[in-house]
Amino acid sequence: MAKIRLALIAGGTSDEREVSLRGAAGVEKALDPNKYEVIRYDPATDLARIANDAARIDVAFLLLHGVNGEDGTIQGFLDLLGIPYQGAGVLGSALAMDKNLAKIMYRLHGLPVAPWVMVELRDLEDTSRIVAEVGLPCVVKPVRQGSSIGMSIVREIEKLPGALRLALKHDNEVMVEKYIKGRELTVGVLGNAELLALPLIEIIPDAKYEFFDYEAKYQPGASKEICPAQVSEQIRQKAQEYAVIAHRSLQLRCYSRTDMILAGDELYLLETNTIPGMTPTSLLPQAAAEAGISFSALLDRLIELAQEKPAGLRG
Ligand SMILES: Nc1ncnc2c1ncn2[C@@H]1O[C@H](COP(=O)(O)OP(=O)(O)O)[C@@H](O)[C@H]1O
Ligand SMILES: [Mg+2]
Repeated sequence: MAKIRLALIAGGTSDEREVSLRGAAGVEKALDPNKYEVIRYDPATDLARIANDAARIDVAFLLLHGVNGEDGTIQGFLDLLGIPYQGAGVLGSALAMDKNLAKIMYRLHGLPVAPWVMVELRDLEDTSRIVAEVGLPCVVKPVRQGSSIGMSIVREIEKLPGALRLALKHDNEVMVEKYIKGRELTVGVLGNAELLALPLIEIIPDAKYEFFDYEAKYQPGASKEICPAQVSEQIRQKAQEYAVIAHRSLQLRCYSRTDMILAGDELYLLETNTIPGMTPTSLLPQAAAEAGISFSALLDRLIELAQEKPAGLRG
């Protein structure tokens, strides 16, 4: 059988460039050389080359995070070129990237989220409105970022203006969310028409980290990841059901990974990642392994799902 010509697209210009390049190295190694002819592209320098090569590319594997990678822009570019790719399309990517719109969609579909407010110009002078709405501690987030970049947990009102300014360096839209004290869970979903929810993972950042920040995410050993998470059967089912509803509510495809916080018996959805981390020890690959799907098999499955025609009418 002829090999599948696969464009492995990684790098890019976002704050998460390094994470992307590290992921791509692992993916390239795990792809079966008997099945795939892999061609590497970096959107930072190679967009014209992708367009030139489009006719001979069978499928693209996107390993980009953040702006211009996970937000629908490269997806639109590939759509124009007629190149299928794994993961959400233009709309789903853009919706999931926008933490405010994603939460609005979750809420429309009955999913629980922490109360939040969008920051307005006047709040930079007087933060009392924010504190009145979400209380303290609160979490300040750029609306379209990932990897906890530009994010802070604020415990005293005096620290809020500085946190807002930091977040504004990363996005012109910033939100402030009520801080939910609880256990951190993440739930992967795999499939197109039929969705398989993967086993839950609990993330326990080392005590020296205030939350699952950039270093806690990427420094080896900085966080403990427990898969399957030790929670009751009822919580497991609810978390998996929520991850599936979140995936559908944002119009996603192929796979996703939804981050949540478990406080008592309540789950609060934080966000859904449309191109989850993809080193062999990343969260979604770990959960897939727990479900009996090896890293190479997961990549094969994603490439298969990428080549399926998007569903038309709902069944
Ligand atoms: N409302 C919240 N309450 C408590 N912790 C939060 C809250 N929002 C975010 N966090 C912490 O910050 C981390 C990153 O937030 P998240 O919304 O998942 O953004 P991203 O992963 O895209 O940077 C979470 O994994 C969690 O540790
Ligand atoms: Mg997250």
